[in-house]
Amino acid sequence: MLFRRLRHTVATSLAVVLSLAPIAAERPSSASSSATEAHFIDALMAKMTLEEKLGQMSQVSWKDTSPALRDGLVTTGQLGSFLFVTDPSEINRLQHLAVEKSRLHIPLLFGFDVIHGFRTIYPIPLALASSWDPALVEHAQSMAAREASAVGIRWTFAPMVDIARDPRWGRIMEGAGEDPVLGSRMAEAQVRGFQGASLSAPTSILASVKHFAGYGAAAGGRDYDQADISDEQLYNVYLPPFHAAANAGAATFMSAYMDLNGVPATGNRFLLHDTLRNDWGFRGFVVSDWGAVHSLITHGFAANPADAAARAVAAGIDMEMTSHDFRDTLAASVQSGRVPIADIDRAVRAILEAKYNLGLFTNPYTDPNLATTELLSPSQRHEARIAAQRSAVLLRNQAHTLPLSKTLHTLAVIGPLADSQPDTMGSWSLGGHPADAVTVLAGLRNKLGATTQIRFAKGVEIERGQPSIFDPQFPEPTPTLLTPEQRAAAFQQAIDTINQSDAAILVLGEAHNMSGERASRTSLALPGQQQQLLEAAVATGKPITLVLLNGRPLDITWASTHVPAILEAWYPGTEGGNAIADLLVGDATPGGHLPITWPRNVGQVPSFYNHTLSQVPNDRDAMYWDASSAPLYPFGYGLSYASIAITNLQISPSELRADGTLQATVTLRNTSPIDGDQTVQLYTHQRAGSATRPVRELKAFQRLHLAAGETRSITLTLRPQDLAFWSPETRKYGLEPGIFDLWVGDASTASAHAVFTLLP
Ligand code: NOJ
Repeated sequence: MLFRRLRHTVATSLAVVLSLAPIAAERPSSASSSATEAHFIDALMAKMTLEEKLGQMSQVSWKDTSPALRDGLVTTGQLGSFLFVTDPSEINRLQHLAVEKSRLHIPLLFGFDVIHGFRTIYPIPLALASSWDPALVEHAQSMAAREASAVGIRWTFAPMVDIARDPRWGRIMEGAGEDPVLGSRMAEAQVRGFQGASLSAPTSILASVKHFAGYGAAAGGRDYDQADISDEQLYNVYLPPFHAAANAGAATFMSAYMDLNGVPATGNRFLLHDTLRNDWGFRGFVVSDWGAVHSLITHGFAANPADAAARAVAAGIDMEMTSHDFRDTLAASVQSGRVPIADIDRAVRAILEAKYNLGLFTNPYTDPNLATTELLSPSQRHEARIAAQRSAVLLRNQAHTLPLSKTLHTLAVIGPLADSQPDTMGSWSLGGHPADAVTVLAGLRNKLGATTQIRFAKGVEIERGQPSIFDPQFPEPTPTLLTPEQRAAAFQQAIDTINQSDAAILVLGEAHNMSGERASRTSLALPGQQQQLLEAAVATGKPITLVLLNGRPLDITWASTHVPAILEAWYPGTEGGNAIADLLVGDATPGGHLPITWPRNVGQVPSFYNHTLSQVPNDRDAMYWDASSAPLYPFGYGLSYASIAITNLQISPSELRADGTLQATVTLRNTSPIDGDQTVQLYTHQRAGSATRPVRELKAFQRLHLAAGETRSITLTLRPQDLAFWSPETRKYGLEPGIFDLWVGDASTASAHAVFTLLP
């Protein structure tokens, strides 16, 4: 499935565009060995002034700097990297300045937030994680890398691998949810997808694993708020996806904004030096988050810009994003002896190595014609559609409400998100164009328009608040200032439309700017009058399907018992409407599963499946006086149009040696006449040890396709190291022999159970 077309070298076509003089005499051949690389970088660094070294450690935002400033910084060698420039001719122009006009001809590195696609927008990362399909996610990010590299962007600020257990936090949409094992598989897959088999391939881009570390534990779900995480939770829950990404060869990391246990992540030597470099052997470079070096003053940590820069470098930051304390103060700090030149050299070397590995010293430009063929190509649209199909989660389907019949006479498509292009793409779609996006209404018209009369009514508006500063290309709809009478008429028109139709699809959820950065919410309710619209729609008695577009679990407790069918589509991206139409009529079968526990309401937050237990729950399974403790939908949950049972669990051996493996085998039986997918999930629990272990922990999973009527057996393998954990008692990471429970099933509530012993 993966394909990578070698892009032709751009030197020939560029010769026409730019008159290329020879660059540095020492420019290496592209087939250089690491010894040649070391020699090349040694020789280059020997020529660099301190100011030029600090330039490599500086990154500015293109859109927030004047042309005179940025051109001046580039030609004088005071800048190593830009973010937020996407026009290939401007990228080539700036690169030309760096490569031809600066003293040492060092190429620039262009970075951008390619989070879920560049121009072709793929489903948001939380959705991609819902696919439980690392190969799909790897492929999606390789497609994103293809587009980004076509315009000259060779570095993405992704993957975001922050574990998140609090849906109030807006950035939960940007990660893989709450589980360290699923999160680790998604982290590795994304690194492989972005970086490809070799960074020197012109379609490869550097990954930047963020936000190191603990950002997802922001107090109260408030973005940027402090994170207080015990060592046990840090080592067993929050750090594993970062470690997995480092092991997968991630070239760069990004430090987080917030305080971790009282020390800002950007000045945190324990994280950046002791853990990342010493313990994990990371040899790439670390960029600060936007302005995070200067923010060390805001934290009440650094006294002034010089202190902030010196302490960020001492902690392990190599490149400063957008603030300029490195450029302004580090030369004096090196001269005064406060900052060792060895620390500067380490940072500069890592940055130059990354540029070298990308082939930028030999091939600094992009072919301006590539954008025309690569961006939004038919294969991009095709892959984005498949990704959106595989990311959707069917939450409810009473009495086979779905799939819809393709011979309906009339279908009502209702709701404020049904025909909204920005809301189909979701937040962090900075390179996307809303006009490219296929909405649910458009997708259904494409699919059924010839045979079914499709009628659309918005019904209600969502009050969107201020335009999001993070999605500047989105034309925000002007706030609707409808009178109460106009609102009532719009509402009634939607209900009339449903009454006149054979069935209705309600597309509800959140506007795209309600989740993402700086978009936390104190409520999980459907915003505005959407709940009332949903209740009135159900009261018509027509078959109603709720399609959700959103970046976090929402309070759909009423819908979960009253609306016959609920499809969670998240923000599905450019091809989202076509993919949802495929799913609604059964041309594709939903097979996604939740990467996060779905709470009943905001009062249950945080709610996560891998918690510990101190009391056996009472009959009502409730630790609250006024509500159940159980979530609305458990982690790992998801339905299909097919019925695929998982039975007959057998494990072997029942005594696992530290050098052995355990095989858990189950039978999958598709008892329905519909082809579909099932995701087999294996959970364990250690009954006793030096520290309490969670009631269940995901250890292995696999998504499989079964034809109608097919029966198949499948084996998941458990390795002893999968059972290792960091104990707060022994303060060590390792295995503790003992008795384990094991479950296999299609959610974290799996009931097929076995017991095994881990031998000493
Ligand atoms: C701030 C965000 O926290 C980070 O994730 C992003 O990569 C940078 N801004 C650059 O846009």
